[in-house]
Amino acid sequence: MQASDSRTSIGGIDVARIAELRESEAATFRKARPNSEAKVGNGMAGFLGGVPMHWMTDWPTPFPILVESAKGATITDADGNMLDDFCLGDTGSMLGHSPAAVARAIRRQSGRGLTYMLPSEDAIAIGPLLQQRFGLPYWQIATTATDANRFALRVARAVTGREKILVFNGCYHGSVDETMVRLIDGKPVNRPGLAGEFRDLTRATKIVEFNDIGALEAALGNRDVACVITEPVLTNSCMVLPEPGFHDALRRLTRAAGTLLLIDETHTISTGPGGYARKHGLEPDLFVLGKPVAGGVPASIWGMSEDVAALYGAYDRTKEPGYSGMGTTLSANPLQFAAMRATLEEVMTEAAYAYMDGLARRLDAGLTAVIDRHRLPWHVARVGARVEFICAPGPLRNGGEAEKAHAPELEAAIHVALVNRGVLIAPFHNMMLISPATKAAQVSRLITAFSAVAARLAA
Ligand SMILES: Cc1ncc(COP(=O)(O)O)c(C=O)c1O
Repeated sequence: MQASDSRTSIGGIDVARIAELRESEAATFRKARPNSEAKVGNGMAGFLGGVPMHWMTDWPTPFPILVESAKGATITDADGNMLDDFCLGDTGSMLGHSPAAVARAIRRQSGRGLTYMLPSEDAIAIGPLLQQRFGLPYWQIATTATDANRFALRVARAVTGREKILVFNGCYHGSVDETMVRLIDGKPVNRPGLAGEFRDLTRATKIVEFNDIGALEAALGNRDVACVITEPVLTNSCMVLPEPGFHDALRRLTRAAGTLLLIDETHTISTGPGGYARKHGLEPDLFVLGKPVAGGVPASIWGMSEDVAALYGAYDRTKEPGYSGMGTTLSANPLQFAAMRATLEEVMTEAAYAYMDGLARRLDAGLTAVIDRHRLPWHVARVGARVEFICAPGPLRNGGEAEKAHAPELEAAIHVALVNRGVLIAPFHNMMLISPATKAAQVSRLITAFSAVAARLAA
């Protein structure tokens, strides 16, 4: 907390108590990790900022957890501490660490070449699997959800001949430049903190609040928006669920304006094997899914409707020759195909989701009971196997409210306190995922740990 911060409480908790918790939990964390601290406590040699990826130091722990191994829903660190993993690589390992079928497929493929810019037998199987599961007829493979979004937006602009896109405040779709805008005091601006961004991103990106049908209608009214890109539930701010009728209005208004609808299911795939869109009958023109789709091997998929494919075919036949701007060299490689096929066929099953959903309901109820018991002004939100506690009253209606609900200092203290009680949740928000490998006992341990931390904060 900064010295200038005059708040006496955050999320209903006295700031002095938060600071005290943070300090004592940091000491406990260190004490349990002498080996890790010796190795990474002062940064890792050779890496800018001491870490190979900058957000490893954004975790609220005093230094990054040095992982020895991860299996199922358990991480073991370099000091032998075991953690029930509810972060699951922020969804990359949502189906569990190294699912057996995926590990087998990787082993099998590893002797047959890892990348060759040509299809394999697994690729032949994947096309129909994607069609059946997600209900769209045409697909492409990329390596990250960021890239898939980028390519899908390129197609949207190509086929509509429009430059602008529209996002909802609080969105995150990966490091896709044009989605990096925010509404601050009602004004569209570049997202604060962007490094090296010299363009005014609001020139080509419109932004309105989620669940605000009137603002959406007004923004689409000029018929100059190529595509609305959104998650069906905002999961990258504090979780915001769609209000009844919002998705119907979104679809009706985009169609009326000749604007395409891109649904990014990278996180909401927690809803079911076909994602939120399939479960709730959304009808996206473009669809993106990354992170867990190949069981943790970097891969993403992006799909399009018959209409978009026809329009893109016509566009492609007439555009000037040259590189489309879509594709990266390692995309659609045989390792991705092998891992993705195993994931789709053997891991992302209806039965697995039914199990995940059951445990997620239990977690939701358990956390809610703790919040109620301590009369904390907090709430729990859930989309399928993704659960989040939010240190503010809810439900939240939009990204603006979500931004205000975010309580970084409090969340950081809780996060480290949970780690010290054997539980890992996502670092930048209080997100918890249930995987097919998560055990009921792990959920119970999380509820118990949360209860102990809440009791300490509320005492
Ligand atoms: C909804 C959504 N889309 C896309 C991405 C980008 O994924 P990646 O970082 O794997 O490119 C994220 C990452 O958190 C996300 O939450």
